[in-house]
Amino acid sequence: MLSGKSILLIISGGIAAYKSLDLIRRLRERGASVVPVMTGSASEFVTPMSVSALAGEKVHTDLFDLGTEAEMGHIQLSRVADLVVVAPATADLIGKVAGGLANDLASTLLMATDTDVLMAPAMNVRMWEHPSVQRNVALLKGDGIAFVGPNEGDMACGEFGPGRMAEPMEIVAAIEAKLADGPLKGKRVVVTSGPTHEPIDPVRYIANRSSGAQGTAIARALAALGAEVVFVTGPADVAPPDGVEVVAVQSAREMLEAVEAALPADAAVMAAAVADWRVKSESTSKIKKVKGALPVLEFEENPDILARVSQMSDGRPGLVVGFAAETDDVVGNATAKRERKGCDWIVANDVSPATGIMGGTENAVVVITEGGADVWPRMGKQAVADKLAERIAAALL
Ligand code: C5P
Repeated sequence: MLSGKSILLIISGGIAAYKSLDLIRRLRERGASVVPVMTGSASEFVTPMSVSALAGEKVHTDLFDLGTEAEMGHIQLSRVADLVVVAPATADLIGKVAGGLANDLASTLLMATDTDVLMAPAMNVRMWEHPSVQRNVALLKGDGIAFVGPNEGDMACGEFGPGRMAEPMEIVAAIEAKLADGPLKGKRVVVTSGPTHEPIDPVRYIANRSSGAQGTAIARALAALGAEVVFVTGPADVAPPDGVEVVAVQSAREMLEAVEAALPADAAVMAAAVADWRVKSESTSKIKKVKGALPVLEFEENPDILARVSQMSDGRPGLVVGFAAETDDVVGNATAKRERKGCDWIVANDVSPATGIMGGTENAVVVITEGGADVWPRMGKQAVADKLAERIAAALL
C-alpha cells in the first residue's frame, strides 16, 4: 500500500497521457497523494483541469510561476515527494534529462531532485528503437533512474511493437516496488528464469519443459523485500511478476548478454533452465522436408552463464545462487556442481517425473552452501521463493 506516500507525477506530452488520469486515481485509492506537473505539450492531450480534479491538487506547469515560487519553490517541489514518476516519459523529455537540459519546469525538477525517479516511456516504435533514445535510456539507467515498460502492442499511431506506455496498474506495482521498505532495499539482484529456445531454423527450435514458475516466484519475493530486480526470462509459461525490470530473451547466448548488461549487482540468482547445447548448423531459411533424407543436426555447447558469473574476476556479484535439477543422488551431484561452477549456493531439487516438481506448483529443495546441505520440507514454489529471499536478505546484510 502507498498510504502516506507522496508522488510527484510529471506528465509529458503524448497520447498515453490519458492513462495517467487513471494512474492518479489508482494511486489515490491506495492512499498516496499526487502532486501533478504537466509539460506544455501534455496539456494538448489532457487538460490541467482533469488532472487537478483527479489529484485534488493544483497542477504545476510553469517554471516562472511567481505564486508557486512564493509558496514553494521548484527546487523544494522536486524534493518533498517520496518518488518522482514520469508518465508518460516522451523521447523529448528523456533526451533532455540525459543531456542535462533544464529549460522548463519538468526538466528542471528532474535535475534538481534528490529523490528516486521512475519513468514510464511512451512513444512510437521507431522512436523507441532509435539509437539516440536507446542511448539516452542506457545513460539514465546508469544514473540510477528506474524504468517501467514500454510494452509491446498496437499503438495509437497504427504501428505495432514496443512503445506503448505500461498500464496504470503496472506503474502502480513498479511504484510500490520502488517504495517497498524491506531488508533488500537498495540492493540490485539479477534473476534468470524459464527455458531457453535454441533455433534449428527460423520456425523450429529446441526447448525444455521449464515453466519459469520457480524463477518468477523468486523474483516476486525479492522485489517484495525491496530489491531492485532485473528479471531475465526465456519464453516461460507464467507471466513475469509486477514490479521488476523484465528482459525477455530467447536463446542462451541472448540470456548471457542480458545478464552481463544487467551487472553489476549485489546478487544473482540463476533459476533458468538454460539449454546446454545449441544447433551448430542453424539454418537461416526453413529446412525443407525431402523424402528419404532426414536432416542431421550438429550441436555445440552453450555458454554456462552461472559458471561465467561465478568466476568473474572483476565485478562478481557478492552472492551467486545456482540451481541444480537432478534425478538421482541430488545432494552429491549438487555439491559437486557448486564447486565446479564456483557459485556460493546451489538450490537442488529432485525432478524425477514421480515427484511432479517440474511444471508443478510445489518444490522440495536442498540448499547447499559452503557449510553443508540444508533440507527444506516440500512446500509451494512461492513459499520456497519467500524463504530463499529471506535467506538472501540475511546474507547481504
Ligand atoms: O549444469 P546445470 O545445467 O545442471 O546447472 C544448473 C545451473 O546452472 C542453473 O542455475 C542454471 O540456471 C545454470 N546454467 C546456466 N547456463 C547454462 C547451464 C546452466 O546459467 N548454460
